[in-house]
Amino acid sequence: MNGVPVTAIGSPLTLGPARLRNRLVSAPMERNYCEIDGTVTDRYVAYLSRRARGGAALVFSEASYVRGDGKGRLRQMGVDTDARIPGLARLAAAVRAEGALFGVELNHGGRTAQGAVSGFRPVAPSPVPCLPAGGELPLELATEEVYDLVEAYGAAAGRCREAGVDVLSIHGAHGYLVHQFLSPARNLRTDEFADPARFLDLVVEAVRERAGRDVAVGLRISAFEGFDGGLSAERTFELISGARLDLLDFLDVSAGSYEAGQWIIQPGEWERGLLAPYAEPYRALGLPVGVAGRISTPESAEAIVAGGRADFVSMARTLHADPDFPRRVLAGEPYRPCIACNYCIDRLGSGEPIPCSVNPQAGREHLGPPGAPAEKASVLVIGAGPAGLETARLLAGHGHRVRVLERAEHVGGRFALAAGLHDHPEYRRILEWCAAELDRLGVTVSTGTPVAGETLSRHDVDALVLATGGECHRPDLPGIGLPHVIDVRDWLARGEPAPASCVVWGADREGVAVAGRLASDGSRVLLIGAQPELAPDVGRRAKILSVPRLLANPEVRVLLESAVVAVEPDRLLVRTGGREEWVPASGPLLVSQGVVPRTGLLAACRAREPRLGVYVVGDAGGGGSLYDCFVTAEAVTRSIAEALAGGALPAGGPAATF
Ligand SMILES: Cc1cc2nc3c(=O)[nH]c(=O)nc-3n(C[C@H](O)[C@H](O)[C@H](O)COP(=O)(O)O)c2cc1C
Ligand code: SF4
Repeated sequence: MNGVPVTAIGSPLTLGPARLRNRLVSAPMERNYCEIDGTVTDRYVAYLSRRARGGAALVFSEASYVRGDGKGRLRQMGVDTDARIPGLARLAAAVRAEGALFGVELNHGGRTAQGAVSGFRPVAPSPVPCLPAGGELPLELATEEVYDLVEAYGAAAGRCREAGVDVLSIHGAHGYLVHQFLSPARNLRTDEFADPARFLDLVVEAVRERAGRDVAVGLRISAFEGFDGGLSAERTFELISGARLDLLDFLDVSAGSYEAGQWIIQPGEWERGLLAPYAEPYRALGLPVGVAGRISTPESAEAIVAGGRADFVSMARTLHADPDFPRRVLAGEPYRPCIACNYCIDRLGSGEPIPCSVNPQAGREHLGPPGAPAEKASVLVIGAGPAGLETARLLAGHGHRVRVLERAEHVGGRFALAAGLHDHPEYRRILEWCAAELDRLGVTVSTGTPVAGETLSRHDVDALVLATGGECHRPDLPGIGLPHVIDVRDWLARGEPAPASCVVWGADREGVAVAGRLASDGSRVLLIGAQPELAPDVGRRAKILSVPRLLANPEVRVLLESAVVAVEPDRLLVRTGGREEWVPASGPLLVSQGVVPRTGLLAACRAREPRLGVYVVGDAGGGGSLYDCFVTAEAVTRSIAEALAGGALPAGGPAATF
């Protein structure tokens, strides 16, 4: 992860009037960090200023609505009225104070904006609803109303200029309004705006006029829409080649549309920097070109810029996970990797500020990280899954003496099993990073070292952290003890070849992932789930490839809203909607029915009465997600720091569960 030669991405770049200190750009990213009226918050200022401090050359806020009916998220940033100017000015000043330039992306959601969020009926080139956004039928804009919208883009550009914004990007990508006018599937008009480029040209002219020549103005595009009947790469290139490029300072190439969201925020299964070949042709148009899309390592960024495929790289998740990525990679240092789990984007629809699975500080920069106490303590962490590793890392970073004991022969717990599935090729990176950081911090991680209640007394420590994970839950029903019934995680751990056929009982995250793995390895799979949908515990984007792939496999049969009520060697009694039926079922029965915290050591830990307390983290504390692991790790570190500073021990007495 370090020591990569990064000559090209470290060199400056000029985008019209803007001079970038390097080629690493913090891409526009909606975050739900604003007030509901679109005003900037302290949280937002701290978040962006942190990205600027981390070394990015240009820090974008997000797709910001130029008019209220174009708002797509509850806490999206607005540039719709003059009341937003002071907030924008705060952002600009904070980002510039850290040596970066500040950018705003001008947007209108068109058919993707929904009345339930914006309070307005959506408007669009044509009345084509957007199902992934909610499916509300938009009103077709009258010709004069299109001109009003052009004016709204111009007015928003003027506000940004007044606030001291350095760079404006017109959002012409991802299926929003400008893209809707460009698209043959979304623009069915017969007036002058039937010309797909007309709206874009007018918007570019209006924005340039109001931005003046001191503000860089660029255009973000989707290289293709990604669904049948949408814009192809060839047609998009043709349209953009004929646009008012003379008024622009750069192009930023992305991809996809709402109906092909996997191209907007690419899954971890897809290769890093996959959009670079689509960006390269645009360089022939004579403007500096940026590109986004899983550029999550210095190697991929450097290859793109040094290889002449783009002039700069736009990174969203990479810098969400580690704001210091630019500074660190330019100095040849390790960085915290984004694992492309898409938890961030899947939380966007909730209306709450978006988190990051691997960076508990993301969106909480305004609160600051836990301060290191003056006094140092000794801490024993039992268990080396993500929660144990991260707790140990943070505590060691505070200078505490930390030891980690793990009963298995390897670190990572059940997360390491998930990391072995082809859906999640990037997961292993966070475990590798944690382990490398512990090594760097001099923390001993002893694997193959089970801890028993009796042996705890050998460890004279100030605090104990129980990170022992969980066990698969096995419902009590006839036949559950038969030898072919195996917990899904135990089966994964065995690493056996795929059987000819099998049943997966439980269509949660693990059940669906394992069914997918077995099906792609050639098993005939019967998947039985209690809920009406597959993997209800997983967000839409995180399963955007895996669930359709599973359903398209003819060797996979899915029974939803069903429960197994009895097991026999070659058949199962399955209850669906009050009816019970014996279903033939050969091969192993893999059970994925949730996790029960493994807390057998808790009483013994408590009995030790360490002066700074006992803490239970991750699955052992009922946590579950990777995000929970990282957040609870930080909470432990904070509590221990507070306890050392003379504060009270966490509520709940000497043992606290995070
Ligand atoms: C949570 C989230 C919000 C996003 N919001 C925006 C946005 O407001 N405007 C935009 O042009 N792209 C947006 N994107 C797309 C990113 O800018 C970027 O193109 C994409 O995530 C691929 O880059 P990455 O692999 O570095 O994340 C968003 C991505 C994420 C993950
Ligand atoms: S939540 Fe997941 S995808 Fe999003 S930035 Fe963090 S690690 Fe990356």
